[in-house]
Amino acid sequence: MGDSMSEGAYRAVPITNRVFWVGAIDWGLRDFHGYLTSRGSTYNAYLITGEEPVLIDTVKAPFREEMMARIASVLDPSDIRCIVSNHAEMDHTGSLPEVIAEVRPDRVVASKAGVKALRDHFHWDQEVQTVADGERLELGGTSLRFFEARMLHWPDSMFTFFESEGVLFTNDAFGMHLASAERFVDEIDPCTTRYEAAKYYANILLPFSPLVRKLLGRVPAWKLDLQMIAPDHGPVWRRDPGQILELYDKWAAQPYGRKAVVVYDTMWESTARMATAVGEGLAATGLHVVLMPLRSVHRSDVATEVLEAGALVLGSPTMNGEVLPPLADVTTYLRGLKPQRLVAAAFGSYGWSGEAVAKLAAVLEEMKLEAVANGVRVRYVPDAEALQACRDLGTEVGRRLGDRLAASANGGN
Ligand code: FEO
Repeated sequence: MGDSMSEGAYRAVPITNRVFWVGAIDWGLRDFHGYLTSRGSTYNAYLITGEEPVLIDTVKAPFREEMMARIASVLDPSDIRCIVSNHAEMDHTGSLPEVIAEVRPDRVVASKAGVKALRDHFHWDQEVQTVADGERLELGGTSLRFFEARMLHWPDSMFTFFESEGVLFTNDAFGMHLASAERFVDEIDPCTTRYEAAKYYANILLPFSPLVRKLLGRVPAWKLDLQMIAPDHGPVWRRDPGQILELYDKWAAQPYGRKAVVVYDTMWESTARMATAVGEGLAATGLHVVLMPLRSVHRSDVATEVLEAGALVLGSPTMNGEVLPPLADVTTYLRGLKPQRLVAAAFGSYGWSGEAVAKLAAVLEEMKLEAVANGVRVRYVPDAEALQACRDLGTEVGRRLGDRLAASANGGN
C-alpha cells in the first residue's frame, strides 16, 4: 500500500468482508478466438484476505500492473501466501510467472491436469501443488475446497470454494464477456446480463453440454452454503446465485425452442428473397423467426440465437461449385459447437451447377440435425412459384418443430 500505483486509478473492490475483486477491465476487446465480444470483457482475479492471503487466478499478461495495483490497494502483494490457478488458459495465467516472481508465495496450487497444462505453457521448473477433486486446504484460518470441472471448458478447469463466506470461484463457467464499472450482476440491466451469459454459453460451453449437466448433478453432493458465484469474466452472481445454475441446466439440456433462425448470404438478392419467403412460411406456423444475413451478422451472434432455437435453416447461392465463404465459416463454427434438437433445412439460388444446397444439407446431416429432405433450389431469380416453394419449406420446418414441441410438452425428449 502507499505506492504510486495503488494511489492511482486502480482500486480493489470488496465482494465480501474478506474477498476483493482485483481483476482487470478490457473495455476494448472485440475478438476472443473468433467470438465477437461486443461489450468487451474482464479478467477477474480475487484476493482473499486473512492470516495467509490467497490470490485466486491472475490476469492476461498486458493487465498485470492493473491487477497488482488493485492488490496493493488492500495489502502488500508480498503478503500473499498462496496462488490458486483454476485454469491454465492465458487470459488467466498470462501474468502468472511474473506475479509468482514478484509475490513469492509459499505455494501455487492447481488441479492435476492444471499442473501439467501450466508446465506445457510455461516450460518452467516452478513447483505447483496438485489439489485433488473435493480436497480441502486450510491456510491460516482460510478454508478452501477444490472441485474438478473437467471440460468446462478445458481438461484442467477447476472450481475453488471459500467456505466461510460461501463464494464459489468458477473461472470461465457462469461468466460472460462484459466490461462494466459494476462488479455484481444485480447492478446491471438484466436483459444485458442474460443475453451476454447466453452468448458466452452458446459460444464456449455448448459443445460440453453433457459434461455441464454431469457437473450440475454433482453440485448438491458438495453441500455448499453457496452465497455467491464469482466467475473470471464479467460480474459476480450475488443475489440468488442459483439463477445461473438454472440457466445452465436449461441450456445444457438444449430443449426445442419456439424460434427459427434463417442464416444466409446472397449474391444478387435471389437467396435473400428466398430467405424472406422461408421466414414467412416459418412465421405462419407461429414461430418467432430471426433472419440472419451473414454480410452483417457475426458467427457468434448466430450461435447465440441458435442456443434457444428449435429450427435452423441455411441458405446460400452456389459460387464455383461451393457455398459462399460466409456459409462455410458459420457452418464450420456451428459444427464445432454441436447444437442439438434443431429441425433444419437448406435453400439457395444458382446459375448452372447448383451444388450449394446439397452441400448445406450434407453439413446438417453431419451435425446430426433433423433435416427436411428436400431443400429448395432456384435457378437465377425466384418467380412467384419458387417463392411459394420457399414458404412451403418454411411451413414444413415449422410443422415438424410444432410436432417436436408438442411431444416435449407431453413428456418426450
Ligand atoms: Fe477465460 Fe478458458 O479462459
